[in-house]
Amino acid sequence: MSEGAFKRYMITSALPYANGPKHIGHLAGAYIPADVYVRYLRLSGKDVVFVCGSDEHGTAIPNQALKENTTSQAIVDKYDAQIRKCFVKMGMSFDIYHRTTEPIHHQTSQEIFLTLYNKGLLTEETSEQYYDDEAKTFLADRYIKGTCPKCGHPSAYGDQCEKCGTSLSSKDLINPKSTLTGNSPVLKLTKHWYLPLESYEPWLKEWILKSHQHDWKTNVYGQCKSWIDAGLQPRAMTRDLDWGIKVPLPDAEGKVLYVWFDAPIGYISATRALFDEVTSGHYRFSTPQRDFTGSKKDDWKTYWQDKETKLVHFIGKDNIVFHCIIFPVILHATGEYIVPDNVPANEFMNLEGDKMSTSRGWSIEMHEYLEDFPDKPDVLRYALLTNLPEAKDSEFTWKDFQAKNNNELVAIFGNFVNRAFVLTQKFFDNKVPALGDLQEVDKKALADLKLFPARISESIETYRFREATSGLMDLARLGNKYLAETEPWKLAKTDLPRVGTILNIALQIAANLSVMAEPFLPFSASKLKTMLNVGSTQWHHAGTGDLLAVSHSLGESALLFEKIEDEVIEVQIKKLFDTKKKMELASQPAAPAKQEVSFDEFSKMDIRIGKILKAERVEKSKKLLKLQVDTGIDTRTVMSGIAEHFAPEDIIGKQVTILVNLAPRKIMGVESQGMILMASDKDGSLKLLSPGAETAPGSVIS
Ligand code: MF3
Ligand code: ZN
Repeated sequence: MSEGAFKRYMITSALPYANGPKHIGHLAGAYIPADVYVRYLRLSGKDVVFVCGSDEHGTAIPNQALKENTTSQAIVDKYDAQIRKCFVKMGMSFDIYHRTTEPIHHQTSQEIFLTLYNKGLLTEETSEQYYDDEAKTFLADRYIKGTCPKCGHPSAYGDQCEKCGTSLSSKDLINPKSTLTGNSPVLKLTKHWYLPLESYEPWLKEWILKSHQHDWKTNVYGQCKSWIDAGLQPRAMTRDLDWGIKVPLPDAEGKVLYVWFDAPIGYISATRALFDEVTSGHYRFSTPQRDFTGSKKDDWKTYWQDKETKLVHFIGKDNIVFHCIIFPVILHATGEYIVPDNVPANEFMNLEGDKMSTSRGWSIEMHEYLEDFPDKPDVLRYALLTNLPEAKDSEFTWKDFQAKNNNELVAIFGNFVNRAFVLTQKFFDNKVPALGDLQEVDKKALADLKLFPARISESIETYRFREATSGLMDLARLGNKYLAETEPWKLAKTDLPRVGTILNIALQIAANLSVMAEPFLPFSASKLKTMLNVGSTQWHHAGTGDLLAVSHSLGESALLFEKIEDEVIEVQIKKLFDTKKKMELASQPAAPAKQEVSFDEFSKMDIRIGKILKAERVEKSKKLLKLQVDTGIDTRTVMSGIAEHFAPEDIIGKQVTILVNLAPRKIMGVESQGMILMASDKDGSLKLLSPGAETAPGSVIS
């Protein structure tokens, strides 16, 4: 269908797993590009609905609950709230941010499952699945880890290898292990319902390989093609698990829908919930970004079932097979739903030379960025947009982030706008001056300006967001260059009307920036509109030199962007390395147990509670502190190698644990009479062992 043939747009961003914080790589993959696209469509007057929500099922959730020693429900509540908040702060303009634990989602998923079941499109099969004998449970997907048969990655999951992106089934894994107990699992019979993907091969070939050969991105098309060419296989749509959506059949006790069956249906249930909320006025998850008056509860159907709707899924590359093959097959098989027109998946964004990963501590989490830069969501949006992994993996560096801010947002965009405002304030009482006769340079600037809306539209509509973003910055460059060429500040004394003409044009360019920046830099665009004292303008009005009327009063000017200093960036880089180190140490196993000792041997140790009375550094030694300790028996001197870990003043008065019958020995000429016991933590730091409550010195530890 050609562009003009679509009446409305249904846009989705991948539902993030609510099993942990999300990082800037996620933002770059499935969120910021989608938001630019949607904001652009809205500005263009299109009928669009934009949905997202938390993916709260699958083994990733109970797995995390296990790690945090809490319940699955507590995990999804915690991370849904965190992710939801961050998305708002980043300017993600979803009409609704939903949750897959909501009843309406369970209902929608079960309905679609039953539609397929009743049509006889699911096959029932009993087969052997991995079972953990100790945990007494089947091991679905992420409850099982092993070596990837494709790339050799040693900790691939039972459903997917995160290293190479291959979608797996647990039986493909080499040397599988239960993540619950670490045991090698055994095979046990269980019944499941399968979607026979292979029967849809002809349809997929026609739909993807033929119809979308030219409009889908090569990375996406290529992955689909190799999947289809390799031959598709039946895929289980149910799991043995106690967290998820119950399989709506009588003989399915203890079974839930496969998370990749229910999660994408989350887009549909989110749309349903949106129309429920806008028609009932009872908002829980929606923040409608447009006028929904006159909508009906059932309108969600037109967005999902009408052929004149353009459905676009924004995702990261690890989701391609699910959004291009499995979910479309489900939608198509129901006979009721449309399939996506495009799935502009991005590759991955690396960070400072390494793969981004929350668990390895090598990432920039959204909430941490927003804590450190609460007033700079646009700077991150810009740094990501100019560096999107659209065709291949890309790389985020803090230095580049700083450069994009200082050299582009501040030095080009902000500087241009600021100059136009300052001069208008100074010479024209903050009102848009009149336009006089146009010189060549003016005509050229206006003619160039005219080309921008179409140029940026073209990039956005073909999902080239990097290019679109540089188009926007080029418009600011045009403004900067125009002022540099016309030098209005030099003409004020001799030719004020000429200065007026130049500033009129410069302000028109600034007004155009406020329109066209909206999809990319929504916060700054709105700030700029306030400065210009204008409301919002539709995209198709942009490109002209008459957005601002002569004599229109401008608002108060402010700085749009501010310089980021080197120190700020150094702090971030240090934080990155520190977190990584902490995570590495935390994941190291505890030292192995020492050789057994008898009780008699142990009871020879005379360990007491003592109190540090004095502590001082030892001359010529970096490591030693000389301590005076009240042992309850006496006051004695102990030489302790802890000077690099504790400042003397911090430990004076502390209660400690001391081995009092250690044979004395001379250390740096001083006799040390005992040993203070310490715990050495995983990160190499030392901790004093103090009793849980004030205890008399000399108390025996046994
Ligand atoms: N939660 C999945 C992930 O983070 C994405 C789910 S997208 C959906 O990889 F379509 F299934 F919702
Ligand atoms: Zn792999």
